[in-house]
Amino acid sequence: MISIRDLSVAYQGNLGETLALDKINIDIATGDIYTFIGPSGCGKSTLLYVLSGIISDYNGNVTVNGRSVDPRTQRIGLILQNYGLLPWKTVYQNTMLGQRIKHDRSGLDDYSRYILNELGIEDLLQRYPRELSGGQQQRVAIARAFIMKPDLLLMDEPFSALDAITREEMQALFLDIWQQHSVTTIFITHSVDEALYLGRKIVVLSDAPGRILEVVDNPCFQLDNLRFRDEYYAMSVRLRNILNKG
Ligand SMILES: Nc1ncnc2c1ncn2[C@@H]1O[C@H](COP(=O)(O)OP(=O)(O)OP(=O)(O)O)[C@@H](O)[C@H]1O
Ligand SMILES: [Mg+2]
Repeated sequence: MISIRDLSVAYQGNLGETLALDKINIDIATGDIYTFIGPSGCGKSTLLYVLSGIISDYNGNVTVNGRSVDPRTQRIGLILQNYGLLPWKTVYQNTMLGQRIKHDRSGLDDYSRYILNELGIEDLLQRYPRELSGGQQQRVAIARAFIMKPDLLLMDEPFSALDAITREEMQALFLDIWQQHSVTTIFITHSVDEALYLGRKIVVLSDAPGRILEVVDNPCFQLDNLRFRDEYYAMSVRLRNILNKG
């Protein structure tokens, strides 16, 4: 369980202090998927920095299974908004970070091969990130997070750079993997549709500094042909209303 109590985060910059998150309180059960939605600049990425241990200077209390966040002892799969690939490592080395592996592709196990294949990057393994398109880099970051079989998966708009069809394939792949491993997931998105398709619960954040406006139970989770359903229309209107008022 992830437990967040009175979490506030401020950045110190040249122009003084910017409050990015304002007293966030939420519990997320082990194995659950929460999507977070909110306007640009409301602190979504900041929340993931706290949960992944990148930011440790905050007010409030954040624990994962009763312990403080520590990437050295917890397996955290992190997909950053700017992908977070290491420029001096090849695709293969980037995807295998955190694995104990041989230095050529003979070190790939079946699961890694399956992921690389599903993500369509198996032919790019020897390239460097600068030799990839944005969407390809994003898929490498996704592969790395999935391959490590994390206990906690933190995804910051992971499918934003993909075309519509690829995005739908990736959403389906993600749900498949989530079902197989029931990994606790926080999924950040700008898209109301994506929040409705992928979140068992949807957390709606206010304009900056981010506060939780509402945590919504989502009857649309994993529904096929979502866009043709009445529940979808009702929920979509409801989320937009909450966002507009925030
Ligand atoms: N290093 C920093 N120094 C000062 N202010 C920062 C810094 N990083 C982020 N901020 C500010 O903190 C706030 C939250 O930023 P954050 O990146 O978490 O937003 P976000 O919700 O992820 O936005 P987006 O949807 O555009 O990705 C913003 O107002 C941003 O300008
Ligand atoms: Mg962000």
